[in-house]
Amino acid sequence: MTDLDAFITGLPKAELHLHIEGSLEPEMMFALARRNGVTIPYASVDEVRAAYAFGNLQDFLDIYYAGADVLRTRQDFHDLAAAYFDRAAADGVVHAEIMFDPQTHTDRGIPFAEVIEGLLSACAEAEEKHGLTSLLILSFLRHLSEAAAFATLAQAEPWLNRIAAVGLDSSEMGHPPEKFARVFAAAAAKGLRLVAHAGEEGPPAYVYEALDLLKVDRIDHGNRALEDEVLVARLAREGMTLTVCPLSNLKLCVIDAIEDHPIDQMLALGLKATVNSDDPAYFGGYVADNYRAVATARGLDRDALATLARNSFTGSFLPAEAVAAHLAKLDDWLAAQ
Ligand code: ADE
Ligand code: ZN
Repeated sequence: MTDLDAFITGLPKAELHLHIEGSLEPEMMFALARRNGVTIPYASVDEVRAAYAFGNLQDFLDIYYAGADVLRTRQDFHDLAAAYFDRAAADGVVHAEIMFDPQTHTDRGIPFAEVIEGLLSACAEAEEKHGLTSLLILSFLRHLSEAAAFATLAQAEPWLNRIAAVGLDSSEMGHPPEKFARVFAAAAAKGLRLVAHAGEEGPPAYVYEALDLLKVDRIDHGNRALEDEVLVARLAREGMTLTVCPLSNLKLCVIDAIEDHPIDQMLALGLKATVNSDDPAYFGGYVADNYRAVATARGLDRDALATLARNSFTGSFLPAEAVAAHLAKLDDWLAAQ
């Protein structure tokens, strides 16, 4: 391990943008297919990996939703999340805010309870095993209707004290944030925090809508905000956290090459950027791989990497005392390097 590798892995960090369904590794896909008697359209793990060449977000989503079909039982959701937590802990993640897409499962007849109880038991186990804390973000699928999002929020009612936030993901183009303004307002009225994917493929106008109509606390991705100077100035002024996902951006052709990633430009513009893995099983790396990719390609120094880690705590939904404790530990760790 190089000095940079060791620094990145050891750096205490939070992960704020992770779809738990996107952490389904091909090996687990096969194991769950066997366990549940589900047929999958691949002959081998290598064949699955070979299928992971995407021209855009929709190419990926088609494969991601198909892969999620092997997830059937509470135990499956537990095992999926437990495997993610083991990997995250090995990458220096001490806190994770995890998105899950209930509609991907309830629309296949899997009860909401099976999904969330499996995830929650893995969250509890990760805290005991690794000291890794976590929060859940219920994400609405934006290609589905507003009514379907409201129905999902209603299904979540018994677990609202175990859910930190709602989010908005899936196909961005043609599904502007505005479509979900009322359900986001209803979620906020229930005390939930708000995040939304915006500006991944969609235009800066979608980022404005996420801010003004959804009233989000964080923007997931936000890359295309860079096309609008006024928007950049506003995001910087408001200290809005952007959960940026470099390897995802590369695999989904948001950028042409990792050397073109704007992470350092974002920091230089005063944007509160963080680095995250999005769908690590599909995009070729967990959070430390994402830090490593941009550190190498963009020449980020230790101060920049520490800023990204600091932003991950200040951008989290942890209470202020917990954020302060994480920042103090981060400073102690940095001082010891
Ligand atoms: N669902 C899972 N990953 C996603 C992404 N990167 N963008 C939109 N929806 C997603
Ligand atoms: Zn995402």
